[in-house]
Amino acid sequence: MLSGLSRSLSLQKGLKILGTSRSIINTTVIRNSYTNNKIKIKMADLVEQSKKLAAYSAVDDNLQPEYKVIGIGSGSTVVYVTERIGQLENKQNFTCIPTGFQSKQLIIDNGLKLGSIEEFSEIDIAFDGADEIDTSLNCIKGGGACLLQEKLVADCSKRFIVVADYRKKSPEMLGHAWKKGVPIEVVPSAYNKILRELKLVGGNPTVRPGGAAKAGPVITDNGNFIIDCDFGEIPVNKVKELNDKIKAMVGVVETGLFVGMCKRCYIGEVDGSISTLKTNAGKL
Ligand code: 5RP
Repeated sequence: MLSGLSRSLSLQKGLKILGTSRSIINTTVIRNSYTNNKIKIKMADLVEQSKKLAAYSAVDDNLQPEYKVIGIGSGSTVVYVTERIGQLENKQNFTCIPTGFQSKQLIIDNGLKLGSIEEFSEIDIAFDGADEIDTSLNCIKGGGACLLQEKLVADCSKRFIVVADYRKKSPEMLGHAWKKGVPIEVVPSAYNKILRELKLVGGNPTVRPGGAAKAGPVITDNGNFIIDCDFGEIPVNKVKELNDKIKAMVGVVETGLFVGMCKRCYIGEVDGSISTLKTNAGKL
């Protein structure tokens, strides 16, 4: 189905790290195993390369021709997921369900059929990125403020596949690499009460600011605020308990803790290889 593309993907798979990367100079040397040439590559390009590898591999391994409804996540890694899906010859045979404004644009820009979660609440497969992934494939998501639709689409999907670059894989617990806290979508009028309640359960919460071009907080696609709450490192066996506590707070719409939802995750590694992480929990 992906005629003419496998070579370019395997060309990328052939890139091997020769030296130890040194972030201080922000470049590393890799070898293209097809031409045998050494190439100096910026670390930023390496991250992009690993995102693309993870995304292309996840689509190639998991998207079956009989699937009719596909969930599309949000973020920079999913850009490569939609790019790959957009290369499929049968792309008019299935409908894609977005998880936010950016995701909708990606579906349109790649010539895919756009549907909505209101029409299709049963999804064959969904692909999404993550901010951090622990050893049980629990994830922190919501760095792009799309966590509510992302969780809705993941929940409606028979299979939920996460794609990410090597920086997202935690050696053990959530909160190890991702230091911005757990994103929590809240009803605006409840934000002050929820800040107080989050502190009572050991968190250090802040309302996510809108940035230079927006006075006041970020407003989500659903008209809500995002609170980022730092809980330090969250042991794998405590993620569900923490999620349940936050969800019980009145005014919380959804949390960015995706507990036991993902059963397979594709990581683009720093050496140009791909790791596939699997667990018995989650959806596959
Ligand atoms: C958006 C998300 C994204 O999936 C997450 O932030 C990962 O993004 P990226 O692929 O750009 O690292 O949860 O709300």
